[in-house]
Amino acid sequence: MKNIIERIKKLKQEKNAIVLAHSYQNIEIDEVADFVGDSLYLSQKAQETEAKIIVFAGVYFMAQTAKIISPDKKVLLPNINAGCLMADMIDLHQMEDFKKQYPNLPTICYINSTAEVKSRCDICCTSSNALKIVESLNAPKVLFVPDANLGKWVETKLKGVEVITYKGNCPIHNNITVDNIFNARKEHPGTKILIHPECKPEVSALGDYVGSTSGIINYVKNSADNKFIIVTEKGVVDRLKRDYPNKEFILINDNMLCESMKLTTLEEILYCLENETNEITLDEDIRKQSAKCIERMLEVSA
Ligand code: 13P
Ligand code: SF4
Repeated sequence: MKNIIERIKKLKQEKNAIVLAHSYQNIEIDEVADFVGDSLYLSQKAQETEAKIIVFAGVYFMAQTAKIISPDKKVLLPNINAGCLMADMIDLHQMEDFKKQYPNLPTICYINSTAEVKSRCDICCTSSNALKIVESLNAPKVLFVPDANLGKWVETKLKGVEVITYKGNCPIHNNITVDNIFNARKEHPGTKILIHPECKPEVSALGDYVGSTSGIINYVKNSADNKFIIVTEKGVVDRLKRDYPNKEFILINDNMLCESMKLTTLEEILYCLENETNEITLDEDIRKQSAKCIERMLEVSA
């Protein structure tokens, strides 16, 4: 493994490449990553970088987002089968039908969506800025795709805004029930529960903190507590255990595993960088249209 890591690092230098890694990736990927974080942070890094090649250790929509905002760079996805179950729940036709059902409303797309879907939306958002983005529209009624849970959670937080949601969700987060949270509280009284807003809004309502993967990690960093219950994908807990070995982290249950996120390996990163395979390409019209909603999000989040 050490040899592979060294070869990736050398190639990165030779080719002026960077590796961006999401916090759900297999933890050894961090050894070669220039930046590790949530989807907002990684898209900001993709926009800022002066590297020629971006290797995206994440899932397809993340690499596609990097290509949308950095069209002159070569964006590579080491494992081309790394998709997102939620992003796959809405295609262009379903998006257009949804908009026809509710005409003339400002439309927000969660970043977990395809470029085609983004091309039909006014602004993008991530789990870390969804409240700010919806608020920035100053509209009494908005459309939100594809994550019904995140959209409805935003609605509970922003009084006076109706959020009409598409029927998508992340099956991994959507599986968590109110009873799971009640039971965790009973078993570990006084322990803070940190929840990703892709969970059902009634689940998020029970959290001591609700936020993105980086938000959860930052909450731990700034807290004096020594024990936490984590309600998101296992990769976050793996990183917390590594970075805070004296604190205790309990993953809400063993099913919090995104198989797509775990597909990428160091060997694949090496192969992909060596041979510049699995390049993300986009239709230029779709790219330009989808860039608008991501750039608008990045401006509001700046
Ligand atoms: P973050 O924006 O929190 O990184 O979430 C991305 C994601 O896919 C969560 O399931
Ligand atoms: Fe998509 Fe869910 Fe995996 Fe996140 S955890 S990438 S939303 S399938």
